[in-house]
Amino acid sequence: MSQLNKKILICFGTRPEAIKLAPIVKEFQKRPGFNVCVCVTSQHREMLDQVLDLFEIVPDYDLDVMTSGQTLESLTLKVLGSMSSVLSKENPDCIVVQGDTTTTFAAALSAFYQKIPVAHVEAGLRTYQKFSPFPEEMNRQMTSCLTDWHFAPTERSRDALLGEKFPEDRIFVVGNTVIDALLRVVEKARASDMTFRKEFQKVNFDKRLLLITGHRRENFGQGFINVCSAIRDLAKANQDLEIVYPVHLNPHVQKPVNDLLSGLPNVHLIPPQDYLTFVWLMDRSYMVLTDSGGVQEEVPSLGKPVLVTRDTTERAEALDAGVARLVGTEMERIVYWVQRLLDDVDIYQAMSRPQNPYGDGTSSGQIAKVLEGVLWQSSGGRTRGTIEGAGSHHERSDLFQNLT
Ligand code: UD1
Ligand code: UDP
Repeated sequence: MSQLNKKILICFGTRPEAIKLAPIVKEFQKRPGFNVCVCVTSQHREMLDQVLDLFEIVPDYDLDVMTSGQTLESLTLKVLGSMSSVLSKENPDCIVVQGDTTTTFAAALSAFYQKIPVAHVEAGLRTYQKFSPFPEEMNRQMTSCLTDWHFAPTERSRDALLGEKFPEDRIFVVGNTVIDALLRVVEKARASDMTFRKEFQKVNFDKRLLLITGHRRENFGQGFINVCSAIRDLAKANQDLEIVYPVHLNPHVQKPVNDLLSGLPNVHLIPPQDYLTFVWLMDRSYMVLTDSGGVQEEVPSLGKPVLVTRDTTERAEALDAGVARLVGTEMERIVYWVQRLLDDVDIYQAMSRPQNPYGDGTSSGQIAKVLEGVLWQSSGGRTRGTIEGAGSHHERSDLFQNLT
């Protein structure tokens, strides 16, 4: 039986892109008719490698662009330059990019220059504020302009794309692949409970756990100082609280966090954790304080409140569901809301209902099915024979077999 034979190049560079594209890599690898090429820019190094190891993804290309304290300009130039030769050599039928990083935008631009079609996963999230998040808002908007197939996680993001006049038949609402990753990993994490408790011997898990992450560029400087000062005050005022903070490797994050939070007995500053361990920490936490996009999407599915240290968010669905709250970066406001959730059981419970505004774990299968169909159509149904039941196998895939 002859079938579709298309080369698909999946490109990513940072931790969140890797987590969100891992389900797609696995999905395409098991589908006949696709020749899958994985290219990592390595905009992140250690934090990317953690994800590649966990999901057992061996890239075909590693552009190895990361340098310590890299600037946006040098990073953009490096990704653009090195992607160009990969795309020339591979000449894929489609490139898949995800999200809003510099890798996302520069890889999409490089594909555009070679007239290679772009599929954008997690399309249409918007704040419409040029500098918030910075540079992600514009990275995502500019990537949309270069995109042929937009995979919007929610109706809200679809509406944003429609409002910008992108063609309706090029937009597909599929949920967010982060939920595919989360749902599969969380069972494995729960099954490893005793192992993780031993690993974090210094943390008293009989106490309530506040899990923290942060890395947004627009919060660098005074924003981070304020957030850390709030955490310090909360730690001192609540000796019955354990605070666990995996600190992002960006030097602009490392310095204020270590300067302001080292040495407090109930604050545990730890390196970035591999995804399995971090999912266990989220699942084990009482609440989460974060400026992370991915964490905002994951925590509602686990039924924990999430306080977001930003003034805006392109992920308003969890706010609407009542399980997330923007607390900004003013110290008093952060202290107020964490303390309120610690002290007021009714408010805590109202924000602790499991909600899945970002998907049901089937996104990667839906995306693969759509791309199978559109690539078949774009070839006029003529190239290299016919595909049996094109786009018809939409069953939930058994992703990450090695993790279960
Ligand atoms: C990047 C993305 C951001 C995304 C975030 C996820 C851009 C401009 N920023 O921000 O959108 O939300 O990743 O975490 O695309 N570093 C290491 N090892 C690592 C990773 C980072 O040492 O594994 C350090 C390096 O000094 C590096 C610096 O962090 O130069 C900044 O990395 P970069 O990717 O430019 O910015 P992030 O803040 O990580
Ligand atoms: N994460 C992780 N280890 C950590 C902290 C976060 O694996 O120590 C995961 C988290 O579960 C989410 C993703 O990394 O899936 C979010 O990455 P990050 O906050 O760096 O980027 P953003 O989502 O804000 O772009």
